[in-house]
Amino acid sequence: MRPAGAVGATTGDGLHQSRAGRWQRGAGIDVAATTLRLRLAAAAMLMLLAACSRPLPEENGPDAALYAARCGTCHLAHHPSALTAPMWDVMVRRMDIELQRRGMPPLVDPERSRILAYLSRHASGAPAQ
Ligand code: HEC
Repeated sequence: MRPAGAVGATTGDGLHQSRAGRWQRGAGIDVAATTLRLRLAAAAMLMLLAACSRPLPEENGPDAALYAARCGTCHLAHHPSALTAPMWDVMVRRMDIELQRRGMPPLVDPERSRILAYLSRHASGAPAQ
């Protein structure tokens, strides 16, 4: 005869609440971008120091205005010549993340490509256009 208390001692799988780790693939920063980011940070610091007080190119044009409106709110709009076009490409993607973090409207395509085109036109090392 078994004591009645043994009934409560349930065994088995009911106790194994395995919480399978849920991988959240967040903002999808890939390894190449992360590596570039480190170099970018160092280069950008130096270049921005030299570039921050100059007026923006196409100062009164619509693209400069768009750039200043979208990229000059959290910090001053950096001078396009501070970075090369590929660096701007990476940087704008990084800024997408900053926008999301603050619940600000994301860059959507007409403005995104205009901003990138504007930055590339005046980037350091950019071919004359
Ligand atoms: C929502 C706020 C926000 C907006 C809008 C924003 N940025 Fe930034 N930006 C940041 C923050 C925060 C940092 C510093 C952290 C970092 O470097 O990732 C930064 C840093 C930078 C840097 C310097 C990075 C460095 O390593 O020194 C550049 C260049 C830059 N932003 C460009 C842009 C451009 C281009 C846009 C427009 C597409 C933009 N930012 C819009 C928040 C913002």
